[in-house]
Amino acid sequence: MTHPAICLPTLIAHRGYSAAAPENTLTAVRAAHQAGTTWVELDVQLLGDGTPVIWHDSDISRCSDRRGELANLTWQHAQQLDVGSWFGDTFAGEKMASLEAMLTLLNELNMGVNLEIKVNKGRDPIALVDTVLPIVLTTLPAERVIVSSFDARALARCRRIAPKETLALGVLFGSTPPTWRDQCEAIDAFSIHPHWPRLKHTQAAAMRRDGYEILCYTANDPSAFESRWGWGIASAITDEPEAFQRYLNNRRRHG
Ligand code: G3P
Ligand code: MG
Repeated sequence: MTHPAICLPTLIAHRGYSAAAPENTLTAVRAAHQAGTTWVELDVQLLGDGTPVIWHDSDISRCSDRRGELANLTWQHAQQLDVGSWFGDTFAGEKMASLEAMLTLLNELNMGVNLEIKVNKGRDPIALVDTVLPIVLTTLPAERVIVSSFDARALARCRRIAPKETLALGVLFGSTPPTWRDQCEAIDAFSIHPHWPRLKHTQAAAMRRDGYEILCYTANDPSAFESRWGWGIASAITDEPEAFQRYLNNRRRHG
């Protein structure tokens, strides 16, 4: 039994191209595509009425024109929010993306997604996975999806629903704990997603020896990140895919 044949990109646009457009929106994904990025990282959660949406925070104050908890919103209310103006006037009127609209766009653009199951405090990981995963599995080919999470319960639930050959799972770590191997083995992980400044060289080497892909978040300074490529990191998850790519192109040109 093998994992899906995923061809990992060097760069993954974090929350879409979030340095160029409001994060986690359809516009941010189109911007990533326009910049030549083939994969995006996106966060998924449920509204109060159970609708899966692409959203990072537990509330709406930072990234919309209103205040309140995501868990108290219905889809009808969510569609009345302006989730673009906070980022810039040219994005006024941007709507919160449903998971389904986002997956449709990803298919249109033939893009891959690292979909983070975002379990904010007090939210139910099982309800989130049970809603999201069947939609993802029936909409995107397995070669263009990694489902990741910080939440072990969410990852275990994903693996119960989908075996290794149909779904690549990624384990997210802030500081990588000594138990990383047990956690990865428990869910037959495909990849490990560490916070890059806190990942140790010895840990990366052991992860590679064990056969895991390593996707680091969130790397926005390509020169600070430079030495990590030598550690066998597959992908950098970045807010700045264009600047990062320019740096890599220059490095290639100038040896
Ligand atoms: O998936 C990588 C990264 O997105 C995890 O942290 O808070 O940006 O969702 P956060
Ligand atoms: Mg995320």
